[in-house]
Amino acid sequence: MRSPVRTLATLPAVALVLAATFPTISGAGIQPSQSQYEGADARAAAEPTRHTFPLLKWLRDTAVEVVFGTPSAGTKGGSRPDPALESRYRNDVVVRFNVTNSEEEAALASAAGQMFLDVWAFTPQYVDVRLGKDDVSALLTLLPKALQPSVLIPDVAAAVWATYPSTTATGKSRFESTVVDAAKLKTSLDGVGNIFFEDYQTLTVITSWMRLLEAMFPSIVNMTTIGKSYEGRDVYALRVGGRKSEGEASGPRKTILITGGLHGREWISTSTANYLLWSVITSYDKEPMITKLLDHFDMVFIPVLNPDGYEYTWQSDRLWRKSRQQTKMRFCRGLDLDHAFSYGWDARKLQTDPCSESYGGDEPFQAVEASNLAKWAKNETDHGARFVAFLDLHSYAQEVLYPYSYTCSVDPPNRENLEELAVGLAKAIRISSGELYTVMSACEGAVARTYSASESFPRIEAGGGSAIDWFYHELHARYSYQIKLRDTGSYGFLLPSDHIVPTGEEMLNALKYLGDFLLGNNGIERGVFHKDLKRRRR
Ligand SMILES: *[C@@H]1O[C@H](CO)[C@@H](O)[C@H](O)[C@H]1NC(C)=O
Ligand SMILES: *[C@@H]1O[C@H](CO)[C@@H](O)[C@H](O)[C@H]1NC(C)=O
Ligand SMILES: *[C@@H]1O[C@H](CO)[C@@H](O)[C@H](O)[C@H]1NC(C)=O
Ligand SMILES: [Zn+2]
Repeated sequence: MRSPVRTLATLPAVALVLAATFPTISGAGIQPSQSQYEGADARAAAEPTRHTFPLLKWLRDTAVEVVFGTPSAGTKGGSRPDPALESRYRNDVVVRFNVTNSEEEAALASAAGQMFLDVWAFTPQYVDVRLGKDDVSALLTLLPKALQPSVLIPDVAAAVWATYPSTTATGKSRFESTVVDAAKLKTSLDGVGNIFFEDYQTLTVITSWMRLLEAMFPSIVNMTTIGKSYEGRDVYALRVGGRKSEGEASGPRKTILITGGLHGREWISTSTANYLLWSVITSYDKEPMITKLLDHFDMVFIPVLNPDGYEYTWQSDRLWRKSRQQTKMRFCRGLDLDHAFSYGWDARKLQTDPCSESYGGDEPFQAVEASNLAKWAKNETDHGARFVAFLDLHSYAQEVLYPYSYTCSVDPPNRENLEELAVGLAKAIRISSGELYTVMSACEGAVARTYSASESFPRIEAGGGSAIDWFYHELHARYSYQIKLRDTGSYGFLLPSDHIVPTGEEMLNALKYLGDFLLGNNGIERGVFHKDLKRRRR
């Protein structure tokens, strides 16, 4: 039995490892036909550094194994956590409230704080809350009579169990079975891609997969780490970029940053970041729009910003949201990374109780992962990078949110443009799949448009210290968005894996729209920001 390959730092190292693996695979009966080489050859032409036939042969045959581990090694643990954990949410339900006025929202916000409720979503149409069946009546005593819940997910335990990758009748997981099903592996690339996006993937698999992409596309992909998590895991980033023109090579490296997995349980955000990553890499030199995009911009993807939280959702608790950092309260671990950045951080408004799901720390950047991301991004800008756009992927509710998150009483300087592009992104999504994404300011709570008038009504969750505000304000990433992906509550965070590809596709369409928009503007929006900068420096 061989343990999954972990280090693929350089191509020769891959060659050695894979050469050793190859006999096992051919023994398993993979006999690809000649036609299956064609796709790989086309890609070889686009990759001038590697065109040797044997290299592609073993890449095709063993890429899947490198990423997912050998079939025999994979079967023992599987990807599912201990079945005993299924009982964790046995008595839980997710209920929805239609909040219609600020008094109702204030009452719900206060009750959520008091009872440490797990608020799944809040939008101008609804507020979704997970809690024990037995706690529903206690909650209702704290709320106005008119506020009655409807049940959204009656059996949370079953829904949790359903999101882990399924196993086939033979006890093997879907991708393990596919490894020996040569017919499905048209080429190494499509094979890996199709299988990879059939299910949600573990951190180990994602990391191997990123290393494989770096090894296969060395001329356009660099893998780096932006720092370590609280528990010491690397937070990996892939930088993707094409040929820069003379002028662009000497100017700032205009960078689009895309992050996923800031909240552990929002698996669709990680799979979508991976889908975008995969799509732009494999479309380079094939699709004109993507080629142009990568020739003008560097794109940096961080699919798992909170690896401790993500790993914890696979091992122990599917619904874990925060990091796993120790807090001052021994039994309440974890910081909400989206309330951990310094901009708009306000101790009077933010949750100060470590047991709350939205606790971001006692001071800004106490959360290791948020602090490392900020340090890395600042250092990048000190070394010639300029963040022109930031997409922070989350779930769920289908929303495109623009700054500011911390308050509605201050308008961002380029609000019209932010809103215009946001509407464009939503439209690109709708054209792609028919899904509706709502566009609004991230400052809005459960009752839209009451917040600018008065700061006195509490939101369901205070919005200070967010990542998009920080990138927008501190690094001048002028197109900074938090995008909450599918769905609108049928499954919530427990979105089935057959949504991975459609969600990835609709976001890819949005990403192309973003590229088009930035290129039309030449990526430079003169005026507002420069003035804003000067004013602040004076
Ligand atoms: C909330 O509103 C939706 C749609 O507007 C409706 O279907 C649902 O029954 C409402 N729920 C409650 C508890 O009023
Ligand atoms: C990757 O790193 C190499 C060597 O440092 C550099 O030449 C190349 O431009 C980098 N590529 C990207 C996409 O950043
Ligand atoms: C800062 O960025 C530069 C250029 O990308 C890199 O060489 C350097 O190692 C970085 N420093 C830190 C502390 O990350
Ligand atoms: Zn989130």
